[in-house]
Amino acid sequence: MGADTNMFSRLQNIVFDALSDVAAERGVKVFVIGGFVRDLLLKRPSKDIDIVVLGDGIGVAREAARRLGNARVSVFKTYGTAMFKYKGMEIEFVGARKESYSPGSRNPSVEPGTLEDDQRRRDFTINALALSLDRDDRERLVDPFNGLQDLHDGLIRTPLDPVVTFSDDPLRMMRAVRFATRLGFRIDAVTFEGIKSNRERLKIVSMERVMDEFNKIMLAPCPSIGIKLLDQAGLLELFFPELTALKGVEYVDGVGHKDNFYHTLAVLDGVSKHSDDLWLRWAALLHDIAKPLTKKFVDGQGWTFHGHNHVGERVGGRVFQRLKLPLNEKTKYVQKLVFLHMRPIVLSEEEVTDSAVRRLLFDAGDDIDDLMLLAEADITSKNEAKVKRFLTNFQIVRQKLKEVEEKDAIRNFQPPVSGEEIMETFQLPPCKQVGEIKNAIKEAILDGIIANNPDEARAYMFTVAAKIGLAPSPD
Ligand code: CTP
Repeated sequence: MGADTNMFSRLQNIVFDALSDVAAERGVKVFVIGGFVRDLLLKRPSKDIDIVVLGDGIGVAREAARRLGNARVSVFKTYGTAMFKYKGMEIEFVGARKESYSPGSRNPSVEPGTLEDDQRRRDFTINALALSLDRDDRERLVDPFNGLQDLHDGLIRTPLDPVVTFSDDPLRMMRAVRFATRLGFRIDAVTFEGIKSNRERLKIVSMERVMDEFNKIMLAPCPSIGIKLLDQAGLLELFFPELTALKGVEYVDGVGHKDNFYHTLAVLDGVSKHSDDLWLRWAALLHDIAKPLTKKFVDGQGWTFHGHNHVGERVGGRVFQRLKLPLNEKTKYVQKLVFLHMRPIVLSEEEVTDSAVRRLLFDAGDDIDDLMLLAEADITSKNEAKVKRFLTNFQIVRQKLKEVEEKDAIRNFQPPVSGEEIMETFQLPPCKQVGEIKNAIKEAILDGIIANNPDEARAYMFTVAAKIGLAPSPD
């Protein structure tokens, strides 16, 4: 089948025209290859273009860049590659090569090869499609491994024996899962067996690269698909044993608890329906991470997981560290949501008082909306009546949150009376009592004893001070 005749109708036309000209003048063959061709055929946007040159790739890159407004070319001599940017697109050039990365060696082989040599050393048939940029032959699709058919069938398949393809770069096992999850494709049975039998080789890949792929899976519309595939392939337990430890149901006296692995995945998909935020998705993934550590069967109560939110906050931090994820305010955000994840549910089970809502707002701050999303997704019971009751109560909590916030502005609470003012009023040096008075004012606001404004806070300050035997200074 020929490629879509409109496919050159975009801005890339200019780039492709320049490349066709350079190729004709130099008498070399030039092809667009890889993800760009795949996305073009899938009608998905793509801004990175990979070019294969049968000949001097770096020379063609330099000449094309000169014609396209003298873009600056970055050359990587060791790899025989070059790259330049043009109007937000990244255009990368390689000379066709025979071998891929040599396993165990940092120096890739640069022996020149044919186009087919280059295609066979790529990861999947759908990523090995090439389009000719020959002037006389533009739009011809070169597809020796039936990539177009696989694209139609929604199939992820390696061009070579998967053992060879995955030995070349074991990260490709994660990429297979990523493409399957993102594109809604199946992984071909032989390829999947290849992943299973090569899974141990993932250990030689740096955690940063593994996480790069894992986060792309996390950002897919339905991330659980990818996580289940990683689990079935035996990859997940290699880099994320804390997550696979959530699997399974234990019974005592015929009483079981829910399978926390599948529950966690349902919660992850639940928040993903409403948010593309990677870190909120991580909070969903980790919200019950400490359940195996805190699990107990208590007579008369059944299964309990006391303090799993608190322990989960710590375990979550350790997981981030081990997985080489950023240790910054994102970690703190995830830990905070893990710690607070049960609060809205507990609150909705009781009578929803203003003061409980104020405390929740105070503790969650600007993350309150994310916390509510997480808590709502956490309700995955099969008991429909129970789910309905929770969701109705959540509506009440949401309404109350709005009212309290409008009235008291607790979300970004700033103490209405500062420590300095307390010290000045009572002629105190910095000491414990200053903190006590400040805290008493905050508590009174959260309990609704006084409103969140400086006048009421000041009046209350004098009441508290009198109780602990302090008098204001005469001036
Ligand atoms: N490739 C490969 N093996 C890898 C990485 C990349 O064979 N481990 C090849 C594939 O042909 C791929 C191309 O290099 O299509 C470009 O790789 P990359 O930019 O990482 O991925 P894309 O396929 O373009 O997909 P995306 O941009 O969505 O990440």
